Amino acid sequence: MYLGSVVTVYSRQLKLVDYGDVFTRKHCESLRSRTFAMIKPDAYTNIGKIIDIAIKNGFTISRMKMFKWTPEQAQGFYAEHKGKGFFGDLCGFMSSDVAVGLELVADNAVQRWRELIGPTNSLTARSSAPNSIRALFGTDAQKNAVHGSDSGTSAAREIDYVFNSENTESTALLNNCTCLVIKPDAVHAGHAGKIIDRVLEEGFEVSALEQFKLSRPTAEEFFEVYKGVVPEYAATVEQAVTGPVIAMEIRQQNPVQALRELVGPHDPEIAKHLRKDTIRAIFGVDRVNNAVHCTDLPEDGVLECEYFFKILKGK
Ligand code: RTP
Ligand code: MG
Repeated sequence: MYLGSVVTVYSRQLKLVDYGDVFTRKHCESLRSRTFAMIKPDAYTNIGKIIDIAIKNGFTISRMKMFKWTPEQAQGFYAEHKGKGFFGDLCGFMSSDVAVGLELVADNAVQRWRELIGPTNSLTARSSAPNSIRALFGTDAQKNAVHGSDSGTSAAREIDYVFNSENTESTALLNNCTCLVIKPDAVHAGHAGKIIDRVLEEGFEVSALEQFKLSRPTAEEFFEVYKGVVPEYAATVEQAVTGPVIAMEIRQQNPVQALRELVGPHDPEIAKHLRKDTIRAIFGVDRVNNAVHCTDLPEDGVLECEYFFKILKGK
């Protein structure tokens, strides 16, 4: 049963991306294209803010995944820089902690993302492009918060390296954790970056993150515990397959209860009255389009994270 879901999810994900490119070129006659962006280890606390900037600037996130490279994997990604003075330090830095890879789609994606991130050196960026991402979140010539492909050819290679190979395993730890899923309504409304930022600002650890496109059988399986218990089970499943979801492994002391406090009541209407500062009060619309799912019971935290980061990954 699980294996069936895995195959469906992967084939749907790949089709989505392939057809997306073909569709936009053929029917919109625009220059809609993709680039590879990466939030580097030094910008971990700003992951949500950087995603929000990408969304606000018109980029669609078609794939996204947190990973942690080995030094060898970083060397493979940066092979073009082998032999340069900074190569060793760069690969050490890039394998020191988690990073987030994104496939971004927009008109002239490569050029527009490069403009948005600014000059390579964050010190230069602060004087010549003070609103750029590297000026806002980077430190120096190496710790510059983000990466952007320098051509369409590089983008294709880098996307393949990160998303279509074994170079980027999940970072999920599968202990002391709870699962947070940003649902299609919130992703579609462009709230993903703000929700991730709120979680990080509140001091939670985001130890795994990946965007999935759920098939109907997969969504039914994941929400099965609510079948016959919650009146909107069927509508919840239908809603979950309408677009991409972003699943996260969240860690903290007493993680399930702590995250539930931040997420707020299931019904955003109730949340808006009783807990105005919660994620569902701010980003939710109704009982089905309620922005996020989070684990209900402490004993299910590990199980729900395993569902996304182990079972769906086919490990
Ligand atoms: P990126 O590939 O990360 O988007 O950056 P870029 O094209 O603007 O710069 P590139 O020349 O490709 O350099 C890749 C990364 O290597 C680090 N670097 N350190 N210490 C130094 O002088 C130096 N120069 C480059 C940076 O992290 C840079 O993003
Ligand atoms: Mg480069």
